Amino acid sequence: MESSRLLIEGGRRLTGEITVHGAKNSVLPILAATLLCGGVSSIHNCPGLSDAFAAMRILRSLGCEISREGSTVTVNSADADGDVVSDGLMHEMRSSIVFLGAILGRVGRCQLSFPGGCELGPRPIDLHLEALRRLGVKITEYHGILDCTAGVRPASADITLSLPSVGATENIMLYSALGSGETVIRNAAREPEISDLAGYLIKCGAEISGQGTSTLVINGVPELHGCEYSVMPDRIEAATYMGAAAITNGELMLKGVRPSDMYSCMSVFSEMGCGVYPYDDKIFISARKPISAVRTVRTMPYPGFPTDCQPIVMAVLTKSTGTSVIVENIFENRFMAAPELARMGANIKAEGKVAVIEGVKKLYGAPVRAYDLRAGAALVVAALGAEGQTQISNIHYIDRGYESIETALSEVGANIKRV
Ligand code: EPZ
Repeated sequence: MESSRLLIEGGRRLTGEITVHGAKNSVLPILAATLLCGGVSSIHNCPGLSDAFAAMRILRSLGCEISREGSTVTVNSADADGDVVSDGLMHEMRSSIVFLGAILGRVGRCQLSFPGGCELGPRPIDLHLEALRRLGVKITEYHGILDCTAGVRPASADITLSLPSVGATENIMLYSALGSGETVIRNAAREPEISDLAGYLIKCGAEISGQGTSTLVINGVPELHGCEYSVMPDRIEAATYMGAAAITNGELMLKGVRPSDMYSCMSVFSEMGCGVYPYDDKIFISARKPISAVRTVRTMPYPGFPTDCQPIVMAVLTKSTGTSVIVENIFENRFMAAPELARMGANIKAEGKVAVIEGVKKLYGAPVRAYDLRAGAALVVAALGAEGQTQISNIHYIDRGYESIETALSEVGANIKRV
């Protein structure tokens, strides 16, 4: 069956309020972490995303009992003794690599297929494997299979990451939380999702400090118990809706967000000329006048401008006055939206890690294709600001990171249908 598509009739100003869901990039490592506590955890504010459902399938395949009530997922990992993540599940979601540290921490061995690269580039895991080896894990790689066995843990390990990898930081935290010994991670990722994972683990009894800074210290404990935990808001989903407001010269109140995670995003939208008003768990954005170009947007590890927001901001800047430059410093190939935006009339020159965007007065609806999650979201944003109808195919990419994006946008005036 031809996969479903989104039909968007652009040109309507969005106004109203949207409640943002729990963060995809936090719920995935937290679901993996439930393996470490041999009991019941209730995770609230879980987004209904295909990636989250994939993580739940992996947990079930490892012997966990899972139930879902609205946005609460309850995991009982008392009898979880699995140590294999199937090839199918690994290919379904490459970020399943975050299960490696959790499975090893729980049962002491793990076999999974090398996570394929993805649309964004090779997505190596050398930092993950190097760190786990430093923690005594024996890892052999053959025919695309990673075969890992926990060995004697060092009394203390001091690991410096050559780059602040989110996934590597998470895998080290997951492997070090349950067990013995002190693990220091230097040049650790500082993303809010790291602090959220630490928050869950600490509530389960883990001893972790420094989360949110570049130096994390984890003291292994002999046992972790289940707990109740609420996933942080999705800052990338929030930024996506800010982009929708900006490109349609609309006004949106975003609820259930954490502005303190979003300073670098908010400042880019302010530079575009939007009124951005954060307070408590809300952000009000008003874009009553045409968007102005932004001289340079650079993606950086947190707290710099997040790479996941880059395609969305690119879409907005295509319909701005003037020339903007985007420098993508995190991933090798993250301008996948550019050729599709060009079909809608955008003027973008993307070369290596730099994209130059000449703002145009109008975008025009066209049949376009999502090639990765955030590039797909960028096409939705552009379509909302385009004249005429846009048809987006391959929207399964979008469903990985947005819970029925068409519902939220319809509620604030967008003409968007899934067919
Ligand atoms: C996480 O991916 C997110 N995914 C990504 O979000 C996000 O873009 C990325 O962090 C950066 O913020 C999840 O959390 C599930 P990294 P991750 O390890 O952990 C290189 C989305 O759209 N690297 O920080 O894979 C790597 O190639 C997704 O929601 C190595 O070279 O990101 C990349 O260039 C996309 N060796 C850079 O580091 C390694 O061992 C950042 O990767 C690990 C990473």
